[in-house]
Amino acid sequence: MSIETTYQAMKNKLAKVVPDVELRIKAELVEEINRLKIEKNAVILGHNYMEPALYHTIPDYTGDSLYLSRMAAKTDKDIIVFCGVKFMAETAKILNPSRTVLIPSMRAGCSLAESITAEDVRQLKQRYPGVPVIAYVNTYADVKAEVDICCTSGNAVAVVESFGSQTVIFLPDEYLARNVARETGKHIIFPSISGPANPAAADELDFQMVGWRGRCEVHEKFTVKDIQNIRSQFPDVLILAHPECSPEVTMASDMSGSTSEMIKFIEKSSAPQYLLLTECSMGDNIAAALPAKEMLRLCSVRCPHMNQITLEDTLKSLQLNRYAINLPDDIIQRAAQSVERMVAIG
Ligand code: 13P
Ligand code: SF4
Repeated sequence: MSIETTYQAMKNKLAKVVPDVELRIKAELVEEINRLKIEKNAVILGHNYMEPALYHTIPDYTGDSLYLSRMAAKTDKDIIVFCGVKFMAETAKILNPSRTVLIPSMRAGCSLAESITAEDVRQLKQRYPGVPVIAYVNTYADVKAEVDICCTSGNAVAVVESFGSQTVIFLPDEYLARNVARETGKHIIFPSISGPANPAAADELDFQMVGWRGRCEVHEKFTVKDIQNIRSQFPDVLILAHPECSPEVTMASDMSGSTSEMIKFIEKSSAPQYLLLTECSMGDNIAAALPAKEMLRLCSVRCPHMNQITLEDTLKSLQLNRYAINLPDDIIQRAAQSVERMVAIG
């Protein structure tokens, strides 16, 4: 394609959400990234939170964590460029270790992944011997290597239910764990691992889930008051909340699901307006893909990590083969078991 054709294609899709002056600059970057992608036999995976001029142009696959993990596992390309955050790129490396996996910015972290260490998991296992451990995919590779299975927001309930009535440890997102506990009817506790266990404590006598107090710094900010305010202004708005929001927020919303589940829900429904309680780029991406849908946006709440990934850095990533994800072989081997189990469920 020529830069002019790329610009026209971008304009057709993005004119309502990206100003023309920016489209002209970004078309040049897109053109060069797409040329290099073919030259280097690379595949680009783009998470649903990427900004619209990136999301709608360079990825071969876009989606939620579960779908992108599956695409990473399947690809036969030499290079996987992951336009998402570091734990996602690590998951791609674990699933397809013979490929070069690149992430355009090493600053793309995640408050949930930062909230727990492999040593924390070892201590919990000592405290609850024999209890299966489930880790949300938003964790680093050394944590994944300590657990029995991983899950994403797209299959968390199915993964917990796969253990039947057994008690499970579910890490590290407090709110996702509370939402899953509610859906599966399990009583959840959040023990402190610093002090000795207290088997006589009332809440330690009868429980089916053990959680951890990690939080997503984005989703924890949404409140029931935000929902009430929006509903008073737009009485027929349909509100969709990511399950990393508090249970109070997910219960006050009309639907809760993974980022891709939210997109599918909107595609099928016909409300006069929609509000996503998640990273606001997703509202832009849906507005561009489905112009008939009116998207309301709460853009004061942003994921600083996902927003590190730009077209400029993605181009540099392909030009300079940076930043490559490297993990110790034993961590890859141990983490692969829990991640492959995750990919197979739901
Ligand atoms: P999804 O798996 O639903 O795409 O969520 C990833 C994430 O980081 C949400 O904040
Ligand atoms: Fe992590 Fe939250 Fe950002 Fe998702 S939105 S990457 S959970 S900090």
